[in-house]
Formats: sequence, structure tokens, C-alpha cells
Amino acid sequence: YVIGVDLGTSAVKILLVNQNGEVTEEVSKSYPLIQEKTGYSEQDPNAWVDQTIAGLSDLLHKFDGDPEDIEGVSFSGQMHGLVLLDENNKVLRNAILWNDTRTTQECQEIYDRVGEELLLAITKNPALEGFTLPKILWVKNHEPEIFSKANAFVLPKDYVRYMLTGKLHMEYSDAAGTLLLNVKERAWSKEICELLGIDSEICPPLVGSQDEVGTITSEIAETTGLSTSTRVFAGGADNACGAIGAGILEEGKTMVSIGTSGVVLSYEANDDKDFQGKVHYFNHSAPDVFYTMGVTLAAGYSLSWFKDTFAKDVDFDELLAEVGSVAAGSNGLLFTPYIVGERTPHVDANIRGSFIGMDASHEMKHFSRAVLEGITFSLNESVEIFRENGKTIDTVVSIGGGAKNESWLQMQADIFNANIVKLQSEQGPGMGAAMLAAFGCGWFNSLKDCADEFLKEDKVYEPIPENVARYKGLFGIYREVYGNTNGLND
Ligand code: XUL
Repeated sequence: YVIGVDLGTSAVKILLVNQNGEVTEEVSKSYPLIQEKTGYSEQDPNAWVDQTIAGLSDLLHKFDGDPEDIEGVSFSGQMHGLVLLDENNKVLRNAILWNDTRTTQECQEIYDRVGEELLLAITKNPALEGFTLPKILWVKNHEPEIFSKANAFVLPKDYVRYMLTGKLHMEYSDAAGTLLLNVKERAWSKEICELLGIDSEICPPLVGSQDEVGTITSEIAETTGLSTSTRVFAGGADNACGAIGAGILEEGKTMVSIGTSGVVLSYEANDDKDFQGKVHYFNHSAPDVFYTMGVTLAAGYSLSWFKDTFAKDVDFDELLAEVGSVAAGSNGLLFTPYIVGERTPHVDANIRGSFIGMDASHEMKHFSRAVLEGITFSLNESVEIFRENGKTIDTVVSIGGGAKNESWLQMQADIFNANIVKLQSEQGPGMGAAMLAAFGCGWFNSLKDCADEFLKEDKVYEPIPENVARYKGLFGIYREVYGNTNGLND
């Protein structure tokens, strides 16, 4: 067996996977978001650790085999979140998360001091509020006392892994999202650190996603029931792991993943394409390759916000039960999912969402469908960027929340005008983490071999021409909403 731990934004999901790639046990433990002000989004890193330990204990309780048979564990984690540690590796403040947008000024500071051209040349990415470097600068600028005690920074799953093994590392796929990594050379950029007055010593040692970094400490083994012989592998960014868990391991493969955020992600064998920073360009968790992706900040989050605000007492299945009975286009109701700002394509922390076209005849089901359509339109902006840059996108593997609902899967086929593949397990990131452990343990010669063995297609959703035509028209209107509403909350 191997374990895949996916440290998400709303919960940690832990999968026990056997040698045939079957998920035999599954545990999920949630933790809260801390949102002190508009634009702020934080979590307590020790809540991640406590819930991961509690989840592992539950998993081991359910498991009736010998803990020694669990050969390896690896991790997938929400990207970009800043965890600052002191000289004893104690957490200095709450983690500032990927969907926190307080750092617009710090992004400007990066452009002023590093320059856009140099930043793109080194990191292959622009300065975005969500990335880690602007958060480091924010603490440096606003909490200098805390910053003066910082001895290291890590990303969310790296901190959890450290607490389970006692070994502190970062791996390339997550390091790529810090804006401090030279993505091509796979090394920290001393140049960027210097230009911004950051001591490069705070950057931890780098390893590969499938690299073994240690074993479970005896203390953690005792609390969880795991064996101290279980090998621990570094793991990867949740989107990189999602891509592994969706089999995005060769040129031409694309996935859409809907969690709290939503992404459209495409495999890149090399780092030499130029998307002018319009999509993120990161190191993959598969050795020596890359991926590009566009990000919708509030994908699943738009849906959970909608449910919590307007339909608190129903569950998601109930909320979405009738969306299939509403025709494509939600009878003229249109939603833009910019409830916490937007990344791709607008890179605008201030834009906010909207419902337009409300009619006295609209019911809850129209609103629910409009939310799903708005999220999918936003993801289609990324699909279009890929197409405009010469990529063929005719088949997309869908994972996460968006793959749990038949109407939403068909909607993705109709809006992207592409075949949508649903896998038997849409676990994505957790499965990708388990696959990194399986590969690290030597079960397979490559991640591709592992994917061939572990991942099975369930169903393919083909675009329905009349819906494609309807959505094409609506997407044109959707695109105009941004420019017409971006002054609303100035
Ligand atoms: C990617 C991003 C999000 C998080 C969600 O750049 O910010 O997709 O990784 O966990």
C-alpha cells in the first residue's frame, strides 16, 4: 500500500491505495479559513498538522492490515501559501494563502525592483498577488519584527511533511509557484532575493517530487499507528499532483480540475514556449518536465459560497439535482465567478462577481445552473488562451468537484467544445500523491507506467452541437461583463 495526503484549502484528504491503484480507505478532515478582512485568507499551519495526524490515525484504525505493509506516503498541497518559520522551525504567524489578495503593492514593488522582463526570464511567471514572494514582501513591509525572526519559509504541505519527518525541504513543483525559483535551472534565484533585500538563506533545500526525504518519526508513528519504516516522498503542488492523478504525462494532454479554485492545465515537455505570462508556467512533479495552467480563483468556492449564502440547509447533491432540467444558458441568467477577484485572464484582485439577466420566472435551479456555467465560462478563458497559442484542445480529463456531476461534465464538453473524460477515480491530487509514493517505492519504472496501471476511463462526454452554439454566443456576452463592471467597487 501507499498513502496520498492531499492538503487542500478546505480539508485534508487522505487516500490508502493498493498495488492495483484502488483506493481502499479514504479519510477527510476539514479546517477553517481565517478571513480577518476583505482580501485576507489565512490558515493555522498547526491545524493542518493536527488534522493530518487525526486523519492518518482514523485511516490506520480502519485499515485491518499490517502497518508495515504501508510502504510509502507522499503529499499534494495547496500551492503558494507562505509558512514562515523561526530558527527552531516554529511557525511565526498564520500562513497567508494562495487566494489572499492583499499584496497588490508588493507585486508592484517586484516589478519596480526586479523588472518584468527579468522576472519572466527567471521565473517564467508574472508577479501575481497569490504567489509566495509578494507575501514574503508583505510580511517584511508590514510585520518587520516577525520578519526579522524568519529563518526559513516553506509551503503548506512542506510544513506538514516536516512535522511528520523532522526534515525540512521544498520540492520543485511547489517552489516554482513562489516566484523565487529559476524554473529552467531548478535553483533558487539569488538575484531576485538580492534585488528585493531578502536573505536567500530563508529558501530551504530543494528536492524532486519523487525523492525520498526520510521516514515517519517514532512520535508520529506512535500517535497515528503508522510504522517508522514507512518511507516518505516529497510530493508536489496540488495541481501538479492532480495532473499526475489525471494522467497528464505526455504532450497534448490537458485537464480541468475544480476544487476551491479551478484550473485548466496542459503538459509541457520543455520550458521553451512563450505564453507571455498569460498562463502560469511551472515545473511538473514528473521529473524534468513542465506544465502550463490558467486559474479561476473561485471555482468550487463560488458554488460553496452560493450554497452557504442562499441554500444553507441543502447539500450539494440536492442543490444541483435539478440543474439538468434547465436548458443550456439558464434561461438568460448569467453569473461571473469573480467573488474574490480573478486570476486568468484578468489578473485583477478588485473585480467582483455578478448575476445578470435576472427574470421574475427564475428559480433556485436557474441560479444553481448559472453558477456552474459562470465557473465553466471562466475556465474556458484559459482554454481559449491555450488555443490562441496554438494548442489543440480536443480532449480534456476532468477531475475534482466538476467531475462529480453529470450535468456539469456535459456542460464542460459543451462550453469547451471538447470531449470530456471522466476517470473511474476523480481523486486527482490525492491519487497523484499516492502515485509519487508508488513510483518512489520502485513499484513502476515511470509515472507514465503507473498511470497506465492505476487510471481507468469511466466515460467520455461529447459536445452537443446546439449547446456549443448557444454557449458560444453567451461566452461573448460573459466576456463583456468584466469590462463593464470593473469600476463597481472602486
Ligand atoms: C494555483 C493556485 C490554486 C491552489 C489551490 O496557482 O493558486 O490552484 O493551488 O490549492
